[in-house]
Amino acid sequence: MQIKSRRVILRRTTQEDLPFLKCLWNDGRVMKWVGFPIGLGATDESIAVWFRKRSAEPRFFHFIVWDANGRRCGEVCYDVDPGQKRAGLDVKFAPESQGRGLATDALRALTDHIFAVEEDVDEVWTEPSTANVAARKLYARCGLAEKPRPMDMKQDVPYWALERSRWTELKTNAEQTHAPDALPRGGDA
Ligand SMILES: CC(C)(COP(=O)(O)OP(=O)(O)OC[C@H]1O[C@@H](n2cnc3c(N)ncnc32)[C@H](O)[C@@H]1OP(=O)(O)O)[C@@H](O)C(=O)NCCC(=O)NCCS
Repeated sequence: MQIKSRRVILRRTTQEDLPFLKCLWNDGRVMKWVGFPIGLGATDESIAVWFRKRSAEPRFFHFIVWDANGRRCGEVCYDVDPGQKRAGLDVKFAPESQGRGLATDALRALTDHIFAVEEDVDEVWTEPSTANVAARKLYARCGLAEKPRPMDMKQDVPYWALERSRWTELKTNAEQTHAPDALPRGGDA
């Protein structure tokens, strides 16, 4: 299964992707933003265990992001909590694939996919630390905004979310902006 966007393709993660994930998760430049300044110290075995466990979870979906040259550039995933009607998001990009707008493309494609196929999800959410400026800019570009943490969640880190209603509004605005009749006509100044 794959999700295509303008500049990247999201493909469900397979065994062949695990060496890439190991490199990504052991890279302190990526992982310092999620609390692991020298990387996760993952091994082939620990990644294999992670993959087996998470692959058995019916509402967890993990993807590798591929660029137009067929290179792996990062990961995105979501985890549905049907009881709370929420899907938690995560994204990490390899340093050499950052700063090119690819993560924005990937995350927009992922949120579009979630709201299109996960009918019981009313909100996507994530929790970037205050210092994680790149992640906050990315989430803001994708329509997420900081909100009070839901009552059922431990109150410690910032909570960012995009509600289905807001997503619909943003999609409608984008479609109107790009619709043929929204373009200036020949006679318009
Ligand atoms: C969060 C993370 C994925 C964001 O990646 P990113 O590369 O900054 O995001 P994008 O791919 O959307 O790139 C955006 C940047 O590329 C620039 N850019 C360059 N060419 C571009 C293009 N053609 N189109 C769009 N943006 C482009 C943008 O100006 C922007 O830079 P700016 O933020 O300085 O303005 C990345 O920083 C990361 O992996 N961090 C570590 C893990 C992490 O923190 N995850 C989130 C946990 S909550």
